[in-house]
Amino acid sequence: MSLFRFPRTIYFQRDIVDSLSEILSKEGIRRVLIITDRVLLGLIGGRIERALGTLERDYFTDVSPEPSVDQIRKAASNFIGKEYDAVMAIGGGSVIDFSKAVAVLISSPEADLTAISPFESIGLKTKLIAIPTTSGTGSDVSFGVVLSDRDGKIAMGNYDLVPEIDILDSSLTPLEKKIIVPTGIDAFVHSFEAIASNTSTVFTDALAERAIENIFKNLKGALDNDENAKDIMHISATMAGIAFSNSGTAAAHALGHSFGATFHVTHGTSVGLFLVPTIKYNSQDPQTREKYLRVCRILDAHNIDSLTKVIEDFFTGVGQPIRVKDLGINRDEYESKLENMVALSLRDSELAFNPVLMGEEDLRKLFLETY
Ligand SMILES: [Fe+2]
Repeated sequence: MSLFRFPRTIYFQRDIVDSLSEILSKEGIRRVLIITDRVLLGLIGGRIERALGTLERDYFTDVSPEPSVDQIRKAASNFIGKEYDAVMAIGGGSVIDFSKAVAVLISSPEADLTAISPFESIGLKTKLIAIPTTSGTGSDVSFGVVLSDRDGKIAMGNYDLVPEIDILDSSLTPLEKKIIVPTGIDAFVHSFEAIASNTSTVFTDALAERAIENIFKNLKGALDNDENAKDIMHISATMAGIAFSNSGTAAAHALGHSFGATFHVTHGTSVGLFLVPTIKYNSQDPQTREKYLRVCRILDAHNIDSLTKVIEDFFTGVGQPIRVKDLGINRDEYESKLENMVALSLRDSELAFNPVLMGEEDLRKLFLETY
């Protein structure tokens, strides 16, 4: 069954966060649990407080990245039984994931978070609202949630966890290059992988193609703090998010996850490294090649070779490395961890969405080529 899911309402405009009270009352929300982190609260807490007016609210600010199930349970225990109309996440991907999990427990305190699956309805009793403060992860529109337990990371998903309301305000996004580049590159990779994925549809292709064009033309401007470029980047990251949430990502994410976990490199930087090698690999499939050729027309490239060159030049121009060695990682050390990265990639759920089957030997070759 082909399905396409996304938030019911997306509010998008620079400074729209100043109209929060109006938006929430229009949505019938009188009592809200706001989940954010302490750093953000310090930066924008005053602005949010003013914007909320007399609306009833509680805050939770002790959010940790990739939180454990126990941490979520502890956080939710403070709020169970309080009957919030909405749980509102203000932050990056981790804050939004954290909020999704808290919303599950507020709705069903006995729920087993590790058993969330796409096949059974969760039936949230509270609305989920996302206000993303980075332009990239797509968590504001995705059905996924990443938590951790004793055995490591657990990635789960359910369509009930796609936030019902998404509020996009690029005035909340950071100025630091070290955040703008990897999150922007992540969104760029999401778009390419949404197009390549074997469960892509005409809906996901349309959003992804436009997101590629927008990110390609505006990431540099966002780095220079151009307001219009930042607005476009923020919306495009969400477009890419809707695309990949409905299609899955693919091999660049499987390899990037494995590399990033092994060498502790940021997600966006890691998946960016493997974009060009996987485009080259996937081009052997005629249907995927045809789709990349459409992207060539968007980015003024003549063929797949020139497309990969255009992407590498774009990456270099914004400070995204194109080879593992650019990160200062020693070749012997990289090779010593090769088998582990191959094993991790084979276990990564995103590999199943790659349009061309990728075996152990192919992965090994791609990892080595990318050094
Ligand atoms: Fe990603």
